[in-house]
Amino acid sequence: MSEQKKPNHELSAMNCPHSLEEVDLFSPGAQEHWYEAYDILHEQAPVHCIPGEGFEPGTDAFILSKHEDIANVVRDQDRYLVVGSLALQQLIASGEDLFEMPNIGSLFASMASLRPNPELWRTHRQELTDPWVGPGAGRNQVMVDRVVNEWIDQWIDEGEVEWISQFAQPVPQTVMANILGWPTADLKLLKYYGDGTVKPFVYGSKHNNILPAEEIKTQFEVLDEFRQYTADLIKEKRKNPAEDMISFLTEVEYSPLKRKLHDLEINGIVYAMIIGGLETTQYAISEQVQLLIERPRAWDEIKADRSKLRAFTEEGMRLRSPTQGLSTRITSQDEVFQGVKVPKGSYLHLRWAAANIDPQEWDHPLDLKLDRKAGTRHLTFSQGARVCPGASLSRLEQMSTWKAIFDRIDRFEYAENNTFQHQPGIMLGTLELNLKFTKT
Ligand code: HEM
Repeated sequence: MSEQKKPNHELSAMNCPHSLEEVDLFSPGAQEHWYEAYDILHEQAPVHCIPGEGFEPGTDAFILSKHEDIANVVRDQDRYLVVGSLALQQLIASGEDLFEMPNIGSLFASMASLRPNPELWRTHRQELTDPWVGPGAGRNQVMVDRVVNEWIDQWIDEGEVEWISQFAQPVPQTVMANILGWPTADLKLLKYYGDGTVKPFVYGSKHNNILPAEEIKTQFEVLDEFRQYTADLIKEKRKNPAEDMISFLTEVEYSPLKRKLHDLEINGIVYAMIIGGLETTQYAISEQVQLLIERPRAWDEIKADRSKLRAFTEEGMRLRSPTQGLSTRITSQDEVFQGVKVPKGSYLHLRWAAANIDPQEWDHPLDLKLDRKAGTRHLTFSQGARVCPGASLSRLEQMSTWKAIFDRIDRFEYAENNTFQHQPGIMLGTLELNLKFTKT
């Protein structure tokens, strides 16, 4: 670690854990000690029970931190149910007309009508999102390169930059706006609505991100506004289609249903793109610049050989996973992980970030290795049928960022006025990052 960066344990409301009893991944300030906690979990409790915090009253939650366990869980949707799928099945079984239900969330409605089962989940992805943010994301290359360079233009002559607000945050926002066909003039609204969608992941408590009732109320107000804004935008795109994802969604025929999409369904897909596609990539880019400053040898190696960039971004996402963990699965039968009994109906908190440095899976897990074999097997995007549908776009944004940065900047260093404090919640987000640099 660079001499310029001090550990920020003292900024936390919590003490750094030294024993299993002291491990707490979710209380305020836990972010500053996550990686110390992962060492303890790997050594002493790779399957760690949180009593009484299961999905149903009287059940427990378990934090999984081993790569093999999490990979097995996400690859088997029948055995490990996705949280939300039960409510979805109930909604579908009720036979209610989704489009007439008052207050139904657009994301939920679109899941129920367009992807109610694993087979349609796959078709939904292939036909509706892959062409824009999945394997087809390459169509955005020129636009992403332009967006990246335009944001760099704003500060390249200054010799210093606040990396989060002047780059890492606006780049994914601008890219997503361009893909969707969201008016650039309303970029601030996109951020506002995006913040509304991820609010539980930032301000929620416990392993499953619970917001207090009052906060849920204000979140719903923002989300209602978001839904209305998007509904108007969809109407506008139906009248005046352009070369963007929302226009595409208004025109495409969805093959399993042999029909075009309803406005509410499109609204739900836009919601999914906004909740998934903004902050996650922001955090990847903001952690990766810190890795480069702290490991100047990696900077020099990449500067000399750009073919190492891909390995760098994968290692970056492995070492500092933006989404550190999610409580997303429930056991459908009794299970045993690492010799620990996990009863049917238990809530599983999948700790991707810990799995990504599991010493049983990775050789020298904390080293940034530009020649690591099969480095993409990290779990940052999950794996299997539910793997993140926007992974290709995020990878493209990260690669475009570093290509431009290595072309235009000779060296970064930390400015003096950094605390490196992380935001609350479940994501690894540095709040502010002041950097100095020399331009090429
Ligand atoms: C570094 C950036 C990103 C990370 C770390 C990330 C991580 C994840 C993870 C861990 C999941 C859960 C998968 C599971 O439950 O098995 C997920 C799902 C999801 N992600 Fe991402 N993601 C990123 C970027 C993106 C982008 C750019 C988009 C959109 C363009 C996106 C859209 C989604 C959506 C919609 C889901 C829900 C799954 C579905 O509806 O099929 N993500 N992501």
